[in-house]
Amino acid sequence: MIESDRLELQTFTDSSVSALLQLFSNDAPGIKLTSSFPLPPTEEKIKEWYKAKHAETSHTFAIILKSENTIIGAIGFSGNKEAVGMGYMIGEQFRGKGYATEAAKLCINYAKSIGVSKILAETFIENPKSEKVLQKLGFKNIGLSTKNFPARGGDRKINTWELNIK
Ligand SMILES: CC(C)(COP(=O)(O)OP(=O)(O)OC[C@H]1O[C@@H](n2cnc3c(N)ncnc32)[C@H](O)[C@@H]1OP(=O)(O)O)[C@@H](O)C(=O)NCCC(=O)NCCS
Repeated sequence: MIESDRLELQTFTDSSVSALLQLFSNDAPGIKLTSSFPLPPTEEKIKEWYKAKHAETSHTFAIILKSENTIIGAIGFSGNKEAVGMGYMIGEQFRGKGYATEAAKLCINYAKSIGVSKILAETFIENPKSEKVLQKLGFKNIGLSTKNFPARGGDRKINTWELNIK
């Protein structure tokens, strides 16, 4: 089991979809800070979203708040073991309590346990909260660049972050 004091990561399945939909159905600003979560979200679109992420080299988890036995967000990584890309999202009512940082620590330890060497993350420049999460985890900013995000209106400025875990 992948767990900390407050959280557990469970493999994301169809039964996680409706909980994630509820968390984000009224949070367009939050969704716009992610690279590809569907906007507007629907059960069907969220299923497509996580299944697209569910390739052989992907690991997507529902983040469970153990005290309430409820899903509070999602986190995952994908790519080959030399360098995977990580992403996460926490429902608005659960933010500001350290949950993203705690869930990411679990995710990083899991990645390490399966032999991943490096974790990369990208943040839109409008997302200081996520930058803070990555800094707290020890990620280093390796540069500002422009990248095309078809689901987010095209070219966007991003910071790229890396953490070596080998
Ligand atoms: C980014 C996100 C995952 C953070 O989740 P969270 O559970 O609130 O994160 P944490 O509580 O672990 O840490 C947030 C940190 O940001 C800090 N913070 C909050 N607002 C901030 C701001 N405007 N500028 C800088 N830091 C800020 C908090 O103080 C906290 O740091 P601290 O623990 O040192 O005080 C959440 O806001 C979210 O899901 N947003 C929408 C989706 C998203 O942005 N996903 C990431 C895409 S890269």
